[in-house]
Amino acid sequence: MIVFAVATQKGGVGKTSTTVNLGASLALSGARVLIVDLDPQAQAGTAVGVNLTGEDQLARSLGWVLQARLQNMRMDLASVWFDRSDLLEDFEVAGSLHLLACEESTMTAAQDLIHKKGYQSTPVLRRMLLEVQEHFDYVVIDTPPAVSSLSATALAAADYVVTVLEPEYAALKGAAATRGTVAYVKDRTGGECDPQYLGVVVNQSNPPSKWKAQEVNIRNGALDADLAPFRTDVRRDTRISDSFAYGVPAVLRFASHAPGKIYAELMGQILTRMTQPKQKWETPDRIESESAGG
Ligand SMILES: Nc1ncnc2c1ncn2[C@@H]1O[C@H](COP(=O)(O)OP(=O)(O)OP(=O)(O)O)[C@@H](O)[C@H]1O
Ligand SMILES: [Mg+2]
Repeated sequence: MIVFAVATQKGGVGKTSTTVNLGASLALSGARVLIVDLDPQAQAGTAVGVNLTGEDQLARSLGWVLQARLQNMRMDLASVWFDRSDLLEDFEVAGSLHLLACEESTMTAAQDLIHKKGYQSTPVLRRMLLEVQEHFDYVVIDTPPAVSSLSATALAAADYVVTVLEPEYAALKGAAATRGTVAYVKDRTGGECDPQYLGVVVNQSNPPSKWKAQEVNIRNGALDADLAPFRTDVRRDTRISDSFAYGVPAVLRFASHAPGKIYAELMGQILTRMTQPKQKWETPDRIESESAGG
């Protein structure tokens, strides 16, 4: 089982879209995938058609499960996760898709509890995932924006961390800060957790003919800051944003069109980097300013 988290401090850049579509892409390739929604906004759940409401549903919130575990109660993840493999039924694949869903009030309480218990409690999710590792090939974690005890818990759970950037200056800073935070996790967890930074996905990008100075500067800036952008980026595409309303990731609604192809290509690059030393990672070429449009 490989666990990776999609994280950046900057809000609204595409963490959730990236998480659910990469997860769906892995499932389409035949893998057994668990998507973990660690953001109290619960958007990853929405994106795969699960919204927790009512008392009985709150008991299935990851927020509730984390609180219980932190108070030393035994928790069985298999009794709370949602099987969304029905989303794959139009495809002849052996993969599966599960979701650990969340809800705001229980997640906020979990966040406060982790904060109170301090950094040594952040491996809580990793320990729980390791207990169910025979069920999954990949776990993909969606994280909240901003620095919080929940984002620290997500990083501690991960073997690898992918960050996301949109072509705006503030996003570059958020991605760089996240990479910096990843480097501290091992020390802060007494060596128990050791996530590796794997690179940045440029999301909501424009076609090269429409690149303005800002987009060129950010692309070059990501290279200069050693953020290791992936060669494939994800264009601004309403098929990706509209899919939230259907509760079905764009990759599954448009599997043989651009969304399906782009995320499969990106996922391939992410998996390749997991097997390579950093010196071998392929990144895009630097853009010379005269080749930029507008
Ligand atoms: N490639 C894309 N093309 C078009 N719309 C996109 C794309 N990626 C994300 N969006 C849209 O941008 C908005 C923010 O995306 P998303 O929710 O994935 O970001 P986020 O980083 O998870 O946000 P938050 O920080 O609030 O959790 C959403 O409305 C989403 O549908
Ligand atoms: Mg999100």
